[in-house]
Amino acid sequence: TAPARDRLRIAIQKNGRLAEPARSLLTACGLSWRQSRDKLFCYGESLPVDLLLVRDDDIPGLIADGVCDFGIVGRNELDEQGAARRRIGLPDAYQALRGLNFGQCRLMLAVPEEWEWSGVEQLAGKRIATSYPAILADWLAARGVDAQVVELSGSVEIAPRLGTADLICDLVSSGATLAANQLKPVETLLESEAVLAGPVKTPDDARAGLMAMLLRRLDGVVKVRD
Ligand code: PRP
Ligand code: ZN
Ligand code: MG
Repeated sequence: TAPARDRLRIAIQKNGRLAEPARSLLTACGLSWRQSRDKLFCYGESLPVDLLLVRDDDIPGLIADGVCDFGIVGRNELDEQGAARRRIGLPDAYQALRGLNFGQCRLMLAVPEEWEWSGVEQLAGKRIATSYPAILADWLAARGVDAQVVELSGSVEIAPRLGTADLICDLVSSGATLAANQLKPVETLLESEAVLAGPVKTPDDARAGLMAMLLRRLDGVVKVRD
């Protein structure tokens, strides 16, 4: 079992769309930090709540391993890694505790603009590029569609033009990226937003009280902003 700790650790994105709103949400909850020089670890001053600045993809794993107690991450990332764990028989290790009302986007299938879209049966035998292979594979399986999932960690939207895939499954926010790549959205797999993620089981040390307090404050702040 993990050693008892009396300080809370929250992982947030270091750079990217969720970084600033996540930080300001926590600030609104009354948290403040002494800035460390490398800025990857921020020591909590107003409360014993420290910040870890990481890549969003690492946040679910940090919670699963007990390195962090909470994380602010897109539901898309949490669901993908949860689905990937389930596919290899691992138990659930984290959960979305609260929707945070920012970072809204959709995980969508997008096809070249010239395609005539008639429905999912059209996907049979096609190659789909995505950074969300587990969600996509589950979605295809649930619909009995036999398509090939091509995993790419980024720049998914150029895959059809490069000929490495026929279509893509990626996040859509404003739609500008799809338009710039002559793609059009046709199916929604997931509605996503930033969530507060936490462990399946609350630690039974001083952190439990801190976690409960932070959730209460968060609920107040998110409600007022709504
Ligand atoms: C996401 C997604 C698209 C883009 C869509 O990438 O992969 O590229 O946003 O947004 P839009 O509809 O507003 O154009 P993001 O910029 O979050 O970074 P990443 O691809 O490096 O993860
Ligand atoms: Zn990412
Ligand atoms: Mg992108």
